[in-house]
Amino acid sequence: MTDAYIVTGPTSGIGLCTALELAKRGVVVLVGRDRGRLEVTRERIERVGGHAHTVLCDLADLASVRQAAARIEDLHLPITALVNNAGVLQSRPSRTAAGWDVTFATNYLGPFALTEALIPHLPDGARVLFVVSAIEDPERKPAKVMGLRGGRFISVEASAEGEWKPGGSKMPGMDAYATSKQCALAAALALAREVPRLRVDAVEPGINSATGLGGANAFLRFLFGQIITRLPPFAPYRSTPERAARVIAEIVADASGRTGVYYDEKGDPMTGSSLAHDPMFQERLVRETRSFLARAETRAVAVR
Ligand SMILES: NC(=O)c1ccc[n+]([C@@H]2O[C@H](COP(=O)([O-])OP(=O)(O)OC[C@H]3O[C@@H](n4cnc5c(N)ncnc54)[C@H](OP(=O)(O)O)[C@@H]3O)[C@@H](O)[C@H]2O)c1
Repeated sequence: MTDAYIVTGPTSGIGLCTALELAKRGVVVLVGRDRGRLEVTRERIERVGGHAHTVLCDLADLASVRQAAARIEDLHLPITALVNNAGVLQSRPSRTAAGWDVTFATNYLGPFALTEALIPHLPDGARVLFVVSAIEDPERKPAKVMGLRGGRFISVEASAEGEWKPGGSKMPGMDAYATSKQCALAAALALAREVPRLRVDAVEPGINSATGLGGANAFLRFLFGQIITRLPPFAPYRSTPERAARVIAEIVADASGRTGVYYDEKGDPMTGSSLAHDPMFQERLVRETRSFLARAETRAVAVR
């Protein structure tokens, strides 16, 4: 049977390029929130002889994530990899129907819940790859030059409420974004230890212009797309969605058996923030996330 790859957020930017790249190697399961845009990607893949399924999923909505996981299981495909790529960067915070911060729900809670729901159905050796962001690390050069303060985690509950550790970044939306990505990275490293039969990794895709930048506003798109990518301090971190997709496809195809690796935009191992790499933090985070999601599930059942 052909390999099957799940890609979230395959309707634009890095996710679209990743879906097109992986479609050269097998069947792609396109997971996104907009049926029309998913169909456009599916048609693009099928026009060049590939094959794709579409699965509707709003990652900011736990019920939608559960339904999507069930639909993916029903496809009975031999999953080679799950690429958790979808993400948002909101300069003005907004809330999900459950009252959660949209950035934290989309970039962390949803992908975590989807991954946990799919893990029992992934064959040994399958890969789970979280697309994160080096912005989570306040000590890395791009974050420092931009005056960003990295992840501002207080607790899972507080993050879902849109509360961040004081003293954060001046740039709107960056505390939520960096915290959500720090959590995704830390959870990937924790899951890699917890489920050694799988390979669970994270990747920083580089500074990419020409993507939707997770729906960032025009100012942030201009800043990242036109200014930052042209300045010399950022040159080593520049990438394109096509290049990021090739790096992702190479990581997914890596046969070394390594797990728990954080890759940079060139596909080389890198180090993230000290907090994300702290096993005590990782375990606390995963524990809190599971109990937070379980409570949310219980509340949702009570309402139904
Ligand atoms: N671009 C960069 O420089 C950069 C740097 C570091 C990390 N990243 C990360 O790379 C990933 C891709 O970013 P990008 O720049 O390619 O962004 P993009 O072009 O805006 O693509 C984002 C994708 O996520 C999907 N998405 C957003 N909210 C969703 C939700 N609630 N449920 C399901 N899907 C949702 C979007 O779907 P719709 O089409 O429906 O909106 C779209 O397919 C993100 O995780 C981002 O944080 C990007």
